[in-house]
Amino acid sequence: MSVKKVVLAYSGGLDTSVIVKWLKDNYHCEVITYTADLGQNEDLEPIKAKALKVGASKAFVEDIRDEFLKDYVMGAFRFGALYENKYPLATALGRPLITKRMIEIAEQEGADAIAHGSTGKGNDQVRFDVSAVALNPDMKIIAPVRDWELKSRDAEIEYAKKHNIEIPITKEKPYSIDRNIWGLSVEAGPLEDPFFEPTEDIYSFTTSPLEAPDKPEYVTIDFEESVPVALNGEKMDIVTLVEKANEIAGRNGVGRVDIVENRLVGIKSREIYETPGATLLLEAKRGLDELVLDREALHLKDTLAIKYAELVYYGYWFTDVREALDSFAKTLTKNLTGTVKVKLYKGSATTVARKSPYAIYNQQLATYDTTDTFNHKFGEAFCYIWGLPLKVSAAVKREQNK
Ligand code: ARG
Repeated sequence: MSVKKVVLAYSGGLDTSVIVKWLKDNYHCEVITYTADLGQNEDLEPIKAKALKVGASKAFVEDIRDEFLKDYVMGAFRFGALYENKYPLATALGRPLITKRMIEIAEQEGADAIAHGSTGKGNDQVRFDVSAVALNPDMKIIAPVRDWELKSRDAEIEYAKKHNIEIPITKEKPYSIDRNIWGLSVEAGPLEDPFFEPTEDIYSFTTSPLEAPDKPEYVTIDFEESVPVALNGEKMDIVTLVEKANEIAGRNGVGRVDIVENRLVGIKSREIYETPGATLLLEAKRGLDELVLDREALHLKDTLAIKYAELVYYGYWFTDVREALDSFAKTLTKNLTGTVKVKLYKGSATTVARKSPYAIYNQQLATYDTTDTFNHKFGEAFCYIWGLPLKVSAAVKREQNK
């Protein structure tokens, strides 16, 4: 394959720094790097400088947290989508947006390929590759880690030394970590043994529930059409709000997930997630769902949430079906406006109060006191009709067994 110019997803770490050099040597092409700020909590200017130092002709860095939260995270949030019941999809939601920006930059810069540092056995390669072909079917895709001869970290360090590529001086943790504003994913190292209990040093986004304050902390979240708009009564933009939610939930030990999950490529993998803000906001949103959505709407939304999570996890972001589900969820959740109070205490987040102008909860119908307006007599007829098919069927069975 011949390549003239490539846009590389660049994190500033060892892998992607080695890739800059490797691409130039193997394809004799120009390399442009792209680094997105999705809220990974890193200083981006040094990353830009490093990209240029290791041989990129241009280095793009940009803060896309707002777009990430509004157009990607909120899609999954409306559904309350969790992959395999636990994972709020932080890493998975970031990939299509990064790919979209890379394709846009490639087109603008006249590049004929994009490249990323994902391995051949993970989900992220799928999300990059599949998003790229969906957006530009002619764009070439290079994933050096799938192709190259550098089979270990030591081999990469060797290569880096030989080519004067700066090696990160910080003591490397044995884990593979991906972080953004919606959550942090940790895998590999000792975690590969599913019977190994994660040690405290693995966590960096949440306080240990054991160390968390002994008094509960309360947070109120205001929602407008399913989107969080205020925290503790203060209106704020979505980026600030999620950051605050991370901070508050994080200090109360909320949002630790330990899962053995099914990767798309057929391998089971053990992952630790830390999603303090996401866990808090999803809990609060659920409180509003319960108050506002009727039974059929809630149950259908919950069923489709599983599908939505799969689409995101599988790299099927840029598809008609995902877009159609987004439209469905927007319509369904348009009345999700209201206020929810959540109690945080040593790792738990529990909705304790909720209100909405669109609540279809009716106290006069629900109550057991004298203000009750429900006509109990109707209960008998309802039960008769509801049970009728069972009654008929039971009679037939009895007759057969005689
Ligand atoms: N298993 C998660 C996913 O497929 C996270 C992948 C990235 N994880 C990591 N530790 N680098 O979305």
